[in-house]
Amino acid sequence: MSQLRSQPVDALSRAEAQQELEALAQELAAANAAYHRDDTPEISDADYDVLKRRNADIEARFPDLKREDSPSEKVGGPLAEGFSKITHEVRMLSLGNAFSAEDVTEFDARIRKYLGLAADAPLSYTAEPKIDGLSLSLRYEDGDLVYAATRGDGSIGENVTANARMIASVPQTLRDAPQVLEVRGEVYMSHADFEALNAAQAEKGGKTFANPRNAAAGSLRQLDANITKARPLAFFAYAWGAQSAALADTQMASIERLAELGFQTNPLTAICDGPADLIDHYAQIEEQRATLGYDIDGVVYKVNELDLQARLGFRSTTPRWAIAHKFAAELAWTRLDAIEIQVGRTGALSPVARLQPVTVGGVVVSNATLHNEDYIAGRDAKGGEIREGKDIRAGDWVQVYRAGDVIPKIADVDLTKRPDGAQVFEFPKTCPECGSDAVREAGDAVRRCMGGLICPAQAVEKLKHFVSRGAFDIEGLGAKQVEAFYHDDQLRIKEPADIFTLRERDAAQLTKLKNREGWGDKSAGNLFDAIDEKRKIPLNKIIFGLGLRHVGEAASNLLANTYLSWQAFEAAMIEAGAREGSAWEDLISIDGVGEVMAGSVVTAFAQEAERASIDRLIAQLDVQNMPERDTSGSPVAGKTVVFTGTLEQMTRAEAKARAEALGAKVSGSVSAKTDILVAGPGAGSKAKKAADLGVETMDEAGWLALIGA
Ligand code: IVH
Repeated sequence: MSQLRSQPVDALSRAEAQQELEALAQELAAANAAYHRDDTPEISDADYDVLKRRNADIEARFPDLKREDSPSEKVGGPLAEGFSKITHEVRMLSLGNAFSAEDVTEFDARIRKYLGLAADAPLSYTAEPKIDGLSLSLRYEDGDLVYAATRGDGSIGENVTANARMIASVPQTLRDAPQVLEVRGEVYMSHADFEALNAAQAEKGGKTFANPRNAAAGSLRQLDANITKARPLAFFAYAWGAQSAALADTQMASIERLAELGFQTNPLTAICDGPADLIDHYAQIEEQRATLGYDIDGVVYKVNELDLQARLGFRSTTPRWAIAHKFAAELAWTRLDAIEIQVGRTGALSPVARLQPVTVGGVVVSNATLHNEDYIAGRDAKGGEIREGKDIRAGDWVQVYRAGDVIPKIADVDLTKRPDGAQVFEFPKTCPECGSDAVREAGDAVRRCMGGLICPAQAVEKLKHFVSRGAFDIEGLGAKQVEAFYHDDQLRIKEPADIFTLRERDAAQLTKLKNREGWGDKSAGNLFDAIDEKRKIPLNKIIFGLGLRHVGEAASNLLANTYLSWQAFEAAMIEAGAREGSAWEDLISIDGVGEVMAGSVVTAFAQEAERASIDRLIAQLDVQNMPERDTSGSPVAGKTVVFTGTLEQMTRAEAKARAEALGAKVSGSVSAKTDILVAGPGAGSKAKKAADLGVETMDEAGWLALIGA
């Protein structure tokens, strides 16, 4: 694993978040390839989860920074060459993770909310071990195994039929099965078989495996099925894909049916009545973990009623109706040498603990987040005590842990080991980078440097953001270069516009890029060309590149697609600076633009220095207008829909999710921009307003018919 991230997600600036998402995408892609394609993992599963979780946390905080190649949208890894490909009729998905009892309670609450169930309404789940192997889909037609496929990227897997036929617990034929049935489950290797295989491999000088999962994967994904035959693999069935008829109407009964059909199913599968029961079963399974004889890495919970599963449906790669509750974090004690402060792009001051390196869960940790000044002082956001009120000081003996998060945290302090004279940590009230006041606004846990563009830390972070992938993405000018150029007295790249005057200044002998180490005529010329190439740039990239607080890629696209040209955008933002009137109303009525974001954009245009800097940039560019929107496609694509009154067949959340999945925009209030009002019983003022405005109005049944549900 590369460097551990030491900044808490809530202190990351946008540029930092974006850079980190890029790094995470690369790291996870490499890890995926090593694990899925090459069966030779480079990082532990726990570390992988930690990276995925970190990625998800950053995406949750900056939804608009989510990358097109986001690891959270990916299941599995690239396909190996050599196997033919099979397209899964029903995608093979992954599971969301829970790391604490609280996560489990939230999972249950989310489901109830989505389904519109009261907290005390009965809702049962299955709980079963999460097998640490690799998933396999077995397709049976008329009772015969016709093919077996690995998960691959979730849509397309590898055809491993010949190999799957070698697994004793994979039936070749089924009796009394639906005409089409895809059975899904996990291929794994028991501890005993793994030891024996490794011993035998070592004996004959063959490849040995790091753990049973890799051994299972390496054995299944053999081009020569005779090798698979010699390997002791087993298969647990726990799910299904395409089927011509349902097996049963609950998860549990379906699993029982699979057992009757001849599949091995996990004996620890149980029905649980709610979060408390789930957590209880989790604890029981965890207790047995060491004696099971095969690896498990958590417990999977699934909504038992299949019609509820169907209503809950899926997010992009994970079902809403299931979650994997992973086994817990690891702990270690070490010495905290110093507390340092880092300054991000938006000026957030983030305290970081520098630690005596210590191994936690297989990873050497030397930094940990301290979150914010309250956390160091032993207080939570509401002024309550954390760690029984114990503060954290340089020199302290601290307990470090890593839960489902890449950043190690400090859980506890051992006061008996506190050195004499250890000083209470004084959180700086001025920015350590530029000396400006660092202000903590009411209700904000974070203290921020007020230096704006004069703060070198913020300026550098802004430049890094400007040249990042989703923004200007200038070849040869990455985060490292802009940081170096910022500090170079001759190159003087202090703001984005300076990048575009570099060639001119160089020609006029004002700068001498080629005099810098590592630069010559050719490379300097290439860089100037790469910069010139980006003068012609679409509006959305510019808006994003400005790095305004709260304005990520998705928001930049929304803004660009609304205003279409720089002139229109700038004029509107200046006018909206009054925070009232039609320009402001138009801005905040864009679905996806809230008042906070709108406020941040108009503030930038209202600040003289910032606007001057933006104008200098625009003067260097040839801004490309956005194309007018194409609204063809699904019957409701691009339409703005409002739901009101009582919906009887679905909850609001469900209605919204479905409409959005079809490309509609769901808004909370009726306006002239509304295309369709779906009004259930009890609809009041919104229905009236829609009628006044002549907005098309239909009932729930009409809506369901329109979308073909
Ligand atoms: S259910 C749509 N149940 O964990 C949900 N998955 O992290 C399908 N896994 O891709 C998965 N044991 O390879 C399910 N009892 C279990 C499992 C299990 C292991 C694996 C499976 C899945 C991955 C998700």
